[in-house]
Amino acid sequence: MMGRIPARDDLDHDPEDAAHLLGADAAALGSLPESRLPSYLTARRWVRDIVTVRLRRAWRGFEATPRGVKPRLEGSTLDVSIAHAGDRLVVGVVEHGLIGVDIELVAPVFDQPALVRRLCTPAERRHADGLEAAGRRAWLTQLWAVKESYAKAVGAGLALDFRQLAVADLRRNDAVRGVLTPASGVPHARIAVSWVAAAPSRPPSSVRTTA
Ligand SMILES: CC(C)(COP(=O)(O)OP(=O)(O)OC[C@H]1O[C@@H](n2cnc3c(N)ncnc32)[C@H](O)[C@@H]1OP(=O)(O)O)[C@@H](O)C(=O)NCCC(=O)NCCS
Repeated sequence: MMGRIPARDDLDHDPEDAAHLLGADAAALGSLPESRLPSYLTARRWVRDIVTVRLRRAWRGFEATPRGVKPRLEGSTLDVSIAHAGDRLVVGVVEHGLIGVDIELVAPVFDQPALVRRLCTPAERRHADGLEAAGRRAWLTQLWAVKESYAKAVGAGLALDFRQLAVADLRRNDAVRGVLTPASGVPHARIAVSWVAAAPSRPPSSVRTTA
């Protein structure tokens, strides 16, 4: 699900609803900068809508997770991923396996040699170097989005070495059930979604359906 983050003034911030929405993670709100509230709450409302309305599951909020850790739903095996860039937000929820989503704005940062060195395998660098400037920037943005979506699916975040992660191999990997690059509908933005087979250690949920 992708859409626009509401402006701070348009955000309906009802503390009672925030408590229901966030569950154990409600304490995180206290340390969140005011400017992050709209995307933080909106992302989680969209996740709750998908879980309760579309998937018809019970809602217990989010686990209390520190920043830099993949968000998890309390008492559920559903997997969730969130990304924001500019005024856009993307959220994904899967019933089986792990999901990672990312949205990136096509920006001059993707021309920087240091970023390209950190992002690409040697083959990806050769491919990028064969593209004209605008196409190269857009392609590198997409490449970043795909790798970050995978890193978010497996919960590693930017700790993963993107230079070792060839997107061509990702697409051939049996554990990777899907690497999608849907149209963003936003000029100058790229979105990626990775869907990965679940880790066997994931604990089962006691919550299956809504009452
Ligand atoms: C996860 C990470 C790739 C996010 O990248 P980003 O481009 O800054 O931001 P995005 O909008 O794409 O994604 C942010 C979302 O990723 C999610 N996220 C955070 N850590 C995650 C992880 N390890 N795995 C999967 N998803 C994660 C969160 O839901 C976050 O949204 P929220 O702030 O509303 O909760 C990056 O922050 C990272 O590698 N973090 C791990 C290390 C770290 O941050 N350490 C510092 C702790 S203070």
